[in-house]
Amino acid sequence: MKSSISFVCQECGYDSPQWLGKCPECGMWNTFREIQSGVQSLGKTDGTSAINITAKKLEEIKIEEKHRIKTCFPELDTVLGGGVVKGSVILLAGDPGVGKSTLLLQLALNVTSTSSPSFPSVLKVLYISGEESQEQIKLRAKRIYKNIKDNNLLILSSTSTDQAVLAIVKAKPSLAIVDSIQTMESENVAGLSGSIPQVRYGASQFIKIAKTLNIPIIIVGHVTKEGMVAGPMVLSHMVDTVLFLEGEKFTKTRILRSLKNRFGSIDEVGIFTMEEAGIEEIKNPEQLFLSKDGNKNRFGSVLVVTLEGTRAFLVEIQALVVASRMPLPRRVASGIDYKRLELLLAVIQKHCGLPIGGMDVFVNVAGGLKLSDPAADLGICLAIFSSFKNICLSDTVVISEVGLLGELRGVQSLDKRIKEAKRLGFKKIISCDKYEMLNEAIKSLGK
Ligand code: TYD
Ligand code: MG
Repeated sequence: MKSSISFVCQECGYDSPQWLGKCPECGMWNTFREIQSGVQSLGKTDGTSAINITAKKLEEIKIEEKHRIKTCFPELDTVLGGGVVKGSVILLAGDPGVGKSTLLLQLALNVTSTSSPSFPSVLKVLYISGEESQEQIKLRAKRIYKNIKDNNLLILSSTSTDQAVLAIVKAKPSLAIVDSIQTMESENVAGLSGSIPQVRYGASQFIKIAKTLNIPIIIVGHVTKEGMVAGPMVLSHMVDTVLFLEGEKFTKTRILRSLKNRFGSIDEVGIFTMEEAGIEEIKNPEQLFLSKDGNKNRFGSVLVVTLEGTRAFLVEIQALVVASRMPLPRRVASGIDYKRLELLLAVIQKHCGLPIGGMDVFVNVAGGLKLSDPAADLGICLAIFSSFKNICLSDTVVISEVGLLGELRGVQSLDKRIKEAKRLGFKKIISCDKYEMLNEAIKSLGK
């Protein structure tokens, strides 16, 4: 492959075919440096140079049958809108240690293994890691996949953006994975690996190669909660899809969300658990978020139906209300917003006359899930009531938002939620279409 010359801004990684005095991206002056680039000439070697570019009529454009690659993780395919689109660039972001490398290595093994029963055609995947050596990756692969003999997975350990690009050109895989963008560095740009110019430059090179060779590339980016806007999130407008893998350190649950998707909706979520031998999909999330014996004969436990994307599933909310010894009673919320808990406690006190002012209140969402769905409001209130009055609300499913005036408010997709509760065999359902006010719902439970 012939290399050609291009100019890269040393501040932000902006790439231009000619020298510019001022960078149109970051506005800095005199920051362009001439570089030799292998990627620029790709167009020519592939016969797609300017002379060959022809615009087509809509009816002339063919959509390939195998436009999307199935990942063997139906949950991931759903989040992506049906699989990985060829030529697309996906950013998989998440906290360090959440399981990004594990998920991707497993994906790579799934689609490249000839012994994978669920997969008819074997693909070639190039996994480029700047974080681990080839041996370390093999050890990880052995841990998650017993039979790693027959597969078509290539591993490269490199921290050089340029080497990674060349490796993709050379191997022409069906899918390339770059783990992670923060470890990739190029001599063509100033700054250490992980700096904004390096990250942007690396991403722009991978995007170019993905588009010219029609190879999908998944780029990993470590993102801490505080750093949502800095670091790899600066890439979010450059790539086609941004996925976010979330999960707490001490719980197994992992939720994969799509924050941006040019090829699908961003409503879907995928639910996984992190096990000893890799990551597993969860098809019935309630198995994760309900206690083993349901909430049978226990005080302070109520079921709510939450929506994640377009999917409804049951989650257990637990509350513990005890007399406080503190001048300022404690309110502890885990899995729900603390301010929401305070607000609901105030509503209960004012509109239902429950004397909980001097009580410590603890609320927890079972399974380590974080709920921001307002439809859980009534569930939180009734769990608190159940613990306070020692009333057992076994097999009761509760769905409604609670307003400041103590009114029950409608929620999104109520029918779907009720249907899901009934599907799982729950008959007692307290929802906003039965009662208008919180105190009516509470009175219906008896005292
Ligand atoms: P990793 O995929 O390396 O995270 P990331 O790439 O997002 O930084 O996952 C690291 C954690 O996952 C680590 O604490 C070990 C754990 N783990 C498992 O629980 N099971 C497994 O099969 C593997 C490979 C890792
Ligand atoms: Mg990793």
